[in-house]
Amino acid sequence: MRQAGRYLPEYRALRAEAKGFIDLCLTPERAIEVTLQPVRRFGMDAAILFADILLVPHALGQTVTFVEGEGPRLEPIRDAAGVAKLRPELVSQMLSPVMETVKGVRAALPGDAALIGFAGAPWTVATYMIEGRGKTDYENCRRMMWGDPGVFLALIDTLVESTSAYLIAQADAGAEALKIFDSWAGAVPAPLFDRAVIAPTARIVKAVKARHPDVPIIGLPRGAGSHLARYAAGTGVDAVGIDHMTDIAAAAASLPAGVAAQGNLDPMLLMVGGDAMDAEARRIVAAMRGRPFIFNLGHGVLQHTPPEHVARLVDVVKGR
Ligand code: CP3
Repeated sequence: MRQAGRYLPEYRALRAEAKGFIDLCLTPERAIEVTLQPVRRFGMDAAILFADILLVPHALGQTVTFVEGEGPRLEPIRDAAGVAKLRPELVSQMLSPVMETVKGVRAALPGDAALIGFAGAPWTVATYMIEGRGKTDYENCRRMMWGDPGVFLALIDTLVESTSAYLIAQADAGAEALKIFDSWAGAVPAPLFDRAVIAPTARIVKAVKARHPDVPIIGLPRGAGSHLARYAAGTGVDAVGIDHMTDIAAAAASLPAGVAAQGNLDPMLLMVGGDAMDAEARRIVAAMRGRPFIFNLGHGVLQHTPPEHVARLVDVVKGR
């Protein structure tokens, strides 16, 4: 997660040339290069498409900007009129550059390296669309979910449709696995977890599987805690991303048979590095031996992570 990005000097150089972050995501030539940078440098087994979960609100016609040092800002949607203004019919054309990136990356990647496409889950994308920013207490989301459920579900429906079409298009273009990021699943009030997280994700999985039954789908319900096994069973994902707050072996044992686990080194330990990182990476690998498992971080690479630590981590995980 975020294996491309600001911790790499070669990313920062390309980013400085682009007009803005969205422009960088929607310029295939540059996005292809950024996607390949970490794979070239470190030799991971998979590349993750360089894009962002907030491209979907952008494509729906919502104003999205990335403010340096502050993160994303969106013109917030708080009522039925705001949802009605969204333009699902524009999404496929607006995001067509991403498909050019997928094709270009697939053509340039070594044959044995997989390409993972992705999108945000409806709930997580909706939090940005409703709050207008990240890092909040989700007060406007929770007020809408409880107080105005029809508006909330209309927004979720729009996102289910657009996200399903977007992921299908990525698989059509050559993505070999798809990941659905529900980064803020842990913020959903428990009685609403099924409606906000499990049901919308299940609809997307079903739509994608109808078209691409053999493309594995990874779900990351970050912070899902006690809902994890129900999430796996209820959504039909093939693999579950496990955050670093969760014991991965115990979580994996609770998943339905055949569902793989992905995770879960603390990104801070990758930044810190040293013997502690090596030991924890080896512990995770040993704990997951004999189970279907993809090594990953519990969340994205942090901005000030030394690239040498990433190189070292790849060696440790690969037993070199
Ligand atoms: O290698 C990769 O994983 C790159 C592709 C990627 C990005 N964002 C690029 C990016 C992926 C998979 C994402 C997912 C994403 N984006 C998530 C889900 C995963 C997670 O981290 O929880 C979320 C919640 C977002 C939304 C988002 N995008 C935020 C909150 C921010 C600002 C963060 C910050 O620290 O400023 C972004 C920007 C972003 N997305 C950057 C990158 C490389 C940094 C932008 C820059 O260059 O300024």
